[in-house]
Amino acid sequence: MGIVGLGYVGLPLATEFAKAGFSVTGIDLDQGKVDQLNQGMSYIQDVDSREVKQLIQEKRLSATSDFSVVAELDTINICVPTPLRKTKDPDMSFIQSACQEIARYFHPGMLVILESTTYPGTTEEVVLPLLTSNGLRAGKDSPERVDPGNPQYQTRNIPKVVGGVTPACTSMGALF
Ligand SMILES: NC(=O)c1ccc[n+]([C@@H]2O[C@H](COP(=O)([O-])OP(=O)(O)OC[C@H]3O[C@@H](n4cnc5c(N)ncnc54)[C@H](O)[C@@H]3O)[C@@H](O)[C@H]2O)c1
Repeated sequence: MGIVGLGYVGLPLATEFAKAGFSVTGIDLDQGKVDQLNQGMSYIQDVDSREVKQLIQEKRLSATSDFSVVAELDTINICVPTPLRKTKDPDMSFIQSACQEIARYFHPGMLVILESTTYPGTTEEVVLPLLTSNGLRAGKDSPERVDPGNPQYQTRNIPKVVGGVTPACTSMGALF
């Protein structure tokens, strides 16, 4: 499985999946973060470096800035930033550029989940057209509430609502 954007949301998610036994590939354009992770170092408060080091050593977690690895992935969680503009609407450029890169290596049967905070309709209006430019279909987003430092709710136990473009997409997302 793959995580695109290894920040406050993406890195804890990547390590939770890796700890659950999945083989996780993280993709981030920030080469500094990629290098730190591959050296077993965490740069996020809620993620323990010892844990990252062990997952890297056991080859359950790896990081790269090269999107061509998407060709080998079954699932992707998009966790790129959506900062608010002066006009208070989210800057969609990070989602758009990530989707354009994913689309180059997108393949049948692949599940794509949008984790980034955004307005309702983003998946169908922004993500879906980019990912289906080659004729394939995509899954849909799942809202989440990452709250760094919160002792009670962390990546492992935050409930999520999942919605899919079609009933089959919803089933696949829920199963995931
Ligand atoms: N941090 C939170 O508490 C929180 C909570 C809920 C939702 N969110 C949402 O989750 C999303 C991610 O937030 P965050 O705090 O993890 O952001 P962040 O800035 O910590 O991390 C985002 C990462 O994405 C990378 N990135 C940017 N563009 C990329 C691209 N095109 N391809 C690959 N990687 C790319 C950046 O280098 C960065 O490492 C945002 O939409 C945010 O609003 C954040």
